Amino acid sequence: PVDLTQMINDRIRDVPDYPKPGVMFKDITPLLADHTAFAAVVDAIVAHYGRGTIDKVAGIEARGFIVAAPVAYHFGAGFVPIRKQGKLPSATYAENYDLEYGSETIEVHKDAFAPGEQVLIVDDVLATGGTAKATAALIGRTGAEVAGISVLMELGFLGGRDRLPDLDVHALVTV
Ligand code: PRP
Ligand code: MG
Repeated sequence: PVDLTQMINDRIRDVPDYPKPGVMFKDITPLLADHTAFAAVVDAIVAHYGRGTIDKVAGIEARGFIVAAPVAYHFGAGFVPIRKQGKLPSATYAENYDLEYGSETIEVHKDAFAPGEQVLIVDDVLATGGTAKATAALIGRTGAEVAGISVLMELGFLGGRDRLPDLDVHALVTV
């Protein structure tokens, strides 16, 4: 039997001092390049929530898009991009948040969801939780329901989960 946790851990590369000194960057590109591991990740996220339970998958620019789009396809759900400020062409809601390194504003189209739709947020990494919290707030402003957030990897030592007490946080691996 394949151990999903080990498969993921074996394919995440630690890059020291990127993007700045003292930060250990978790590089998921080796995992994405391995078709078996990438498919296993997508399948595991869909299996955790179950087909038929999710109306839309919200993917967070940029790395979240890579995982969120195949998850949406496999759910039979629509895909909604959560984008960095200024990238979405129509009317948006915006939220600001602090990041592990710097600060950021993200946006969603105001009409991206119908009221009451079940939305799963998908991103690559949960670090401080700022991005996830802002995304959940954006989705809440549209009138849709946040079913949870799935991430490939949770950096447990940064305490992101504790900043998201109202959110179902699903992480495939925790480091
Ligand atoms: C990274 C990562 C998550 C976020 C997690 O994205 O992809 O989206 O940080 O951090 P947090 O939990 O502390 O908010 P980043 O903003 O670096 O941009 P990218 O995905 O466009 O590379
Ligand atoms: Mg990101």
